[in-house]
Amino acid sequence: MAYFDDVAQYNQDRWEELAARGMQCTKPMLDLDAEASLALVDPHGVAGNVAGKDVLCLAGAGGQQSAAFGILGATVTVLDLTETQLKRDHETAAHYGLEVRTVQGDMRDLSAFDDGAFDLVHHAYSINFVPDPMPVFREVVRVLRPGGLYMLRCANPFAQDLYSRWNGDGYVLKDRYEDGELNEAPWEFQGFDGNREKVVGARTFRHTLSTLLNGLAEMRLVLLGLWEGAALWDDAGAKAPEPGSWEHFVSVAPPYQTIWTRLDS
Ligand SMILES: C[S@@+](CC[C@H](N)C(=O)[O-])C[C@H]1O[C@@H](n2cnc3c(N)ncnc32)[C@H](O)[C@@H]1O
Repeated sequence: MAYFDDVAQYNQDRWEELAARGMQCTKPMLDLDAEASLALVDPHGVAGNVAGKDVLCLAGAGGQQSAAFGILGATVTVLDLTETQLKRDHETAAHYGLEVRTVQGDMRDLSAFDDGAFDLVHHAYSINFVPDPMPVFREVVRVLRPGGLYMLRCANPFAQDLYSRWNGDGYVLKDRYEDGELNEAPWEFQGFDGNREKVVGARTFRHTLSTLLNGLAEMRLVLLGLWEGAALWDDAGAKAPEPGSWEHFVSVAPPYQTIWTRLDS
């Protein structure tokens, strides 16, 4: 792997541990139908019918988006750093009687794929695990066909790393708003055994909105839309959530953004 630097190495170890403990996005989705699949991968109806399209789930293993695209009739390839995550794509595909191709690698090096190999690159939350998004954007543009779509879901950079900063009254803005590595608190989630887990997470980086949008523009990726919000599995509409809880945080600060672009042909 050309990009197997210290960040990739560290994060691969972390994701193996997170997958072993059952962090949310390492849990396969085993009860998807067509409607739920669409809600997961294209809730804003940008891509339209993907049946017969070549789709790359970029750094998006774990048995969620790959299965959804398979159910919708696409030919699916997944590239991801983490072996256990990729195994879950195979297990999930088998569960639905689907096929999936997986490649272990770094999202900054897509040399396993020919130029123009894909109609759609679907990048579920993961670009925040590399320091600079530009090498990723360059590779995405290379492997996309002219007119192809790139969906980038990532952290809302302004709300990033605020959740753990509850001080009893609000979420304290403390760090400078700039590109760079964050010093995150351990990640908390409900693991496979149902218990609350607290695990040191992956090395995570902030990319400001101007870094992301100007980077996409530089690569001739034309903006089709930008949506902010919580993840599908978050309870963003919880009534009277307890202040300081994740449910409360997502009700006051959208943690993620989804950006759809089209490669200028
Ligand atoms: C938050 S999960 C996202 C995928 C998941 N399917 C979802 O539902 O959002 C992050 C994924 O990014 C992968 N990853 C982290 N750094 C990577 C890198 N440099 N190259 C490729 N994959 C990477 C991890 O192995 C993990 O599977």
